[in-house]
Amino acid sequence: MADVEEREDLEVLLRDEDVFDPPEEFRKQANFNDPAVYDEAEGDWQAWWESWAKKLDWFEPWETVLEWNAPWAKWFKEGKINASYNCLDRHVDNGKGDKVAYHWVGEDGDTRDVTYSELLEMTQRFANVLKKLGVEKGDVVGIYMPMLPETPAAMLGCARIGAIHNVVFGGFSVNSVKERMEVSDAKVLVTADASLRRGKPMPMKEKVDDILGDELPSLKSVIVVKRTDEDTPMTEGRDHWWHEISQEVDTDCEPEQLEAEHPLYILYTSGSTAKPKGIVHTTGGYMTGVAATHEVVFDLKPDDDVYWCAADIGWVTGHSYIVYGPLANCTTSILYEGAPDFPDKDRWWEIVEKYGVTILYTAPTAIRACIKWGDEYPNKHDLSSLRLLGSVGEPINPRAWAWYHKVIGGERCPVVDTWWQTETGHIMITPLPGITRTKPGSATQPFPGIEAAVVRKDGEIVEEGGGFLTLRRPWPGMARTLYKEDDRFVETYWSKYGKDIYNVGDAAKIDSDGYFWIVGRTDDVINVSGHRMSTMEIESAIVSHEKVAEAACIGAKDEDTGQAVVAFVTLEGRAGEGDDDMVQEIRDHVADKIGKLARPKRIVWADDLPKTRSGKIMRRLLKDIAEGRELGDVTTLRDPTVTEKIREKVASGQTDE
Ligand code: PRX
Repeated sequence: MADVEEREDLEVLLRDEDVFDPPEEFRKQANFNDPAVYDEAEGDWQAWWESWAKKLDWFEPWETVLEWNAPWAKWFKEGKINASYNCLDRHVDNGKGDKVAYHWVGEDGDTRDVTYSELLEMTQRFANVLKKLGVEKGDVVGIYMPMLPETPAAMLGCARIGAIHNVVFGGFSVNSVKERMEVSDAKVLVTADASLRRGKPMPMKEKVDDILGDELPSLKSVIVVKRTDEDTPMTEGRDHWWHEISQEVDTDCEPEQLEAEHPLYILYTSGSTAKPKGIVHTTGGYMTGVAATHEVVFDLKPDDDVYWCAADIGWVTGHSYIVYGPLANCTTSILYEGAPDFPDKDRWWEIVEKYGVTILYTAPTAIRACIKWGDEYPNKHDLSSLRLLGSVGEPINPRAWAWYHKVIGGERCPVVDTWWQTETGHIMITPLPGITRTKPGSATQPFPGIEAAVVRKDGEIVEEGGGFLTLRRPWPGMARTLYKEDDRFVETYWSKYGKDIYNVGDAAKIDSDGYFWIVGRTDDVINVSGHRMSTMEIESAIVSHEKVAEAACIGAKDEDTGQAVVAFVTLEGRAGEGDDDMVQEIRDHVADKIGKLARPKRIVWADDLPKTRSGKIMRRLLKDIAEGRELGDVTTLRDPTVTEKIREKVASGQTDE
């Protein structure tokens, strides 16, 4: 990889002139409006996190706040805790049982309000179902679900008995589910008969049946939530309807008193290689981090706010900011099942108006789609309940930021651009809405207690300018390891700059005010609509197609989705150019192997790919070609003429979707 300073695609505009102070009305009422909080946290960052841990309910106290044998962290080591107890029981015990935890909104207009008491009952019953099916503390349970109230209940049910959930985003293919269940020896899989997408039922359980059997010997039971009236194949003894089996068990299930470091969940995410990484989060520190950041960053007023994180529970944003953070803070949230433009493009704004949503947290891609659809859709609705807006998942372009601030937020809502990752567990770099002067496009500054720095390749800190983002001290929600891959954990994150410096994998710039501007990934991970994918994973899916000899994928700049997958494909036997059917076949093949979201937007047929003399594919050159940049020196290539041929094909628009 070229040095970050030399890469044009890492260029960002520093716009010192565009600065937004927290709106005065907002500042006055904010939970945190005194910048002294930064100094306080900096003065003793472990004590700062400890003060947040104390707001949770623990069965046993800790003695050690942090044991740090870099890169191995133990937070609140001797403490005993249960995440589901903290998300549910303690609120019910505090008289909040009738408070709505989720206003669930189905895509078809169906709605369900689930109170804290009801969610507690669902959770306890599900926990008892797991026990009945032989699940024990430390066992893994797969969850492959649409956005239904049963989804958080299933996660919390696992947490209640110390089972480890492994949620797979409902948009991934069943092959991805299989891979993830296989590695983690999951005993039970929770799914639904079907999900609704744009008004149509899409079978889920029927597809899941394709992967069950000999290759997943540990997976003994499937629990199926009934969402539609579709006919669903059920295998006697193995498959159980959620609504039936949960009636066969008790409503009470004592929460396990778990060690603070007991694993709460595994969540697979994409890395530099074709093999996804199973990020492991544990209980005490993670709950501390998500509860603290959720309260501070979103200026949460639990009695008044209606909070909506419009992500999917299948991603980390959903885990931390639809389930664990908001429930720990006794929040009323929206849980929306469907697409933002179904049945029409004002669906989100209709929901905001109907429920009086006060806090909205979404991704730049969604904002850009809304901009494209036109102001008339939000303008049809009264959005005056909104008081805070958040962004996550990818860099937000200043234009989208400004639109969000003006059209959705009526210029009265602070915008918090929150940077973090599956690995970090919770928000790491973000404005504090009652304190920070924001600059559109900048995630601004580390959350109190977090230490971040941009460094050069050699690890030296850059005071002002571009480089690689690092995190320089432990934080409570940090990933503890990669599931069954300790060495890969150390190698990927804790080796490049030393064993106590976390290598983020993002390029960033720091400006003269010490503000961070996240530019994008420096590894072979691409970010399509805020969804993280590995170029290698997509390449290996493409080359597994029988007619494909070789493939290279890159993420090219895309004005809608941030980045889009472009695949350069050489067909078997140098078969030249594929036709439209072949394009479709490859796209379908990728959808089948990984999921629709990984399908290349564009396929370019290449007789050969640019390679070094040692045979390494130069993806960087392909990216330069796809984004229309001048190529530098290509003389080190085995065949320097290859790039010219590819450039002509790209320019001719050949095989565009
Ligand atoms: O490149 C950064 C980008 O998303 C990556 C993490 O992806 P994932 O683990 O899927 O988590 C996404 C949701 C937390 C990061 O390495 N990213 C995330 N938030 C931002 C961002 N890039 C710029 N600005 C952000 N606010």
